[in-house]
Amino acid sequence: MAPPPDTTPMRPPFFLTTPIFYVNDVPHIGHAYTVIAADTLARYKRLAGYDVFFLTGTDEHGQKIEKAAEARGEAPNALAARLAERFKALWRELNISHDDFIRTTEARHHRAVDAMYRRLKEQGDVYLGEYEGLYCIPCESFWTELQLVDGNCPDCGRPVEKVTEPSYFFRMSHFGARLLEHIDRHPEFVSPPSRRNEVVQFVKGGLRDLSISRTGVRWGIPLPDHPGHVVYVWLDALVNYLTATGFPEPGFEGRWPAQVHIIGKDILRFHAVYWPSFLLSAGLSLPERIVSHGWWTIAGEKMSKSKGNVIDPARVAAHCGGADALRYFLLREVPFGRDGDFSVQALVGRYNTDLANDLGNLVSRAVAMVHRYRDGVVPAPPGGDDPGAAALRDPAGALYEAFEAAFDDLDRAGRGLQFDQALAAVWAVVSAANLYIHESAPWELAKARDDAALDRVLYNALEAIRIVSLYLYPFMPASAERVWEQLGVRVTPGETDLAAASHWGGLAPGTALSKPAPLFPRLDPAAVPADLADLAIQPPATETPVEKTPAEKTPGAPPEAPAEYVSIHDFKRVQLRVGTVTAAEPIKKADKLLKLQVDIGEGEARQIVAGLARKFAPEDLVGRQVVVVANLRPAKLMGVESQGMILAAGAEEVEALLAPAGPVAPGTTVR
Ligand code: MSP
Repeated sequence: MAPPPDTTPMRPPFFLTTPIFYVNDVPHIGHAYTVIAADTLARYKRLAGYDVFFLTGTDEHGQKIEKAAEARGEAPNALAARLAERFKALWRELNISHDDFIRTTEARHHRAVDAMYRRLKEQGDVYLGEYEGLYCIPCESFWTELQLVDGNCPDCGRPVEKVTEPSYFFRMSHFGARLLEHIDRHPEFVSPPSRRNEVVQFVKGGLRDLSISRTGVRWGIPLPDHPGHVVYVWLDALVNYLTATGFPEPGFEGRWPAQVHIIGKDILRFHAVYWPSFLLSAGLSLPERIVSHGWWTIAGEKMSKSKGNVIDPARVAAHCGGADALRYFLLREVPFGRDGDFSVQALVGRYNTDLANDLGNLVSRAVAMVHRYRDGVVPAPPGGDDPGAAALRDPAGALYEAFEAAFDDLDRAGRGLQFDQALAAVWAVVSAANLYIHESAPWELAKARDDAALDRVLYNALEAIRIVSLYLYPFMPASAERVWEQLGVRVTPGETDLAAASHWGGLAPGTALSKPAPLFPRLDPAAVPADLADLAIQPPATETPVEKTPAEKTPGAPPEAPAEYVSIHDFKRVQLRVGTVTAAEPIKKADKLLKLQVDIGEGEARQIVAGLARKFAPEDLVGRQVVVVANLRPAKLMGVESQGMILAAGAEEVEALLAPAGPVAPGTTVR
């Protein structure tokens, strides 16, 4: 007898990628951002029934890695292996659900690069030339004289080196017109639109042929048939997206093309110009979309080791109860595509307001009331409606479309991915549910023994929470699973039909809830390091320090962790001086900050940006004496240069300024 026909509906494929990460250094919050965004999209697509293939990995060849290994006295492959593990470990901590992690040193990738190069060559798009260029090693990029900024690399600002060498070239200049035509016919190809324009302008400016081999680099994939040359690291790296599909083995087209490459704005040209040109030459389809996101700065500055502000996502997560709060913050705080500034205050603020107050309280109140009034069992809602229910059901019913618009509507609106909008739609339901509970006052209904009304309110509140948790899952998978556990519901991403699961009334009456467990305990702002240095990546010797809780410390034992002490020598490195404020004014769009001019003696005036606006009016400060940290590295806050810091008392908010007890001359040392 013939087997029954397979009636499983075909799940549409969805192949999405992150960039592959350089292994010259450990992962930081910027890397985590790209991956968290991709993970959120992958989880949403699985929930919506797609056959998702989510790829990430590490970019391990090239001069940058070679030099980093040399500086550490390590072999490049050993450095690469060690750091690839670091990335994998962090991805586990951040709950990243990739299906494949590619390393460019793997044999499968070597084969794919080999095959890709042969295709380009067979098409007649490769020729031998002489390369002379200005090369930026950290960025692995050649630049023309015109592109340099103050003689330095326009991307990273570091010096470039003049390099001349025989090199194989790819005829990228042949592909400009086809690329423009493609973008014109597929406006969704690059988003957001500002980035699309950037690409169009760049291509219109005329594409030059691209050097795709290097002789000065040893750490790379040898160029087939040309000993002494290795493949240019960007050709090597971009091919990773094909390698993971099984290319060049037959059947790779089952996965290729990718539906989305998610990338940072800094690597747009490589993805939206070089990559499609290679693919066009090789006769392969182009990725459907390239979505570019903005960059995170720290207190207005680029992250850099020398500034000690390279933020470690694992340390941030550890301070706010796990990865979910960080995932939420990064995707909620800044529209994807725009740049954002990371600050602990903003993170703690969002956590306490959105997660602890709004969402956490909603779940714990509703579950607790069902335990109190209905023995922890979901009541059956009686027929009929109550006045507030529509205001709750409407935003919940709108979530399916809101998510489609945020994640799928790239063709129609071409705006790219809108994680923040999707979250705003979820929070509209959270707020509506809190309001509904507040207005229908179940505690009063219980007192009045209005059982039918109470059943209805409790059911509606739980049902709103179920729907909220469904849509929160892509963003905060661990928290959503904890809500499902409390509600006694089972959701299987990939099998759940999101549209059906979104229908109001999906929660089965009679389901037993588990005990309420706090989802997001409030963070004490004083317990979270205000100093970003405490969240920065640490050198290996002091990695992952385990803080003992006070209970674990032996009473009466000598104080531990001498690393916490500073020596008198360290303290003396901080120059504290008395200053007199001579002028003060508010800063536009920064409601906490004031711009002060401070006389710190010997005719020296300092401009200092200080977070005092909530406590003081500018005119109250003029004439006051303050204590200034005079040798703090200058920094820009909200675009305004600050040349020092003013000492104040108060953990979260400033309570009082520190000042000498009696007037002293400006510039007097404080010790
Ligand atoms: N290896 C290349 C990509 C090759 S893809 C074929 C590379 N690696 S990277 O490690 O430097 O960067 C990886 C990703 O991290 C990029 O998308 C980059 O934009 C992102 N970020 C690095 N620092 C960042 C911030 N400060 N903020 C946001 N994202 C940033 O480029």
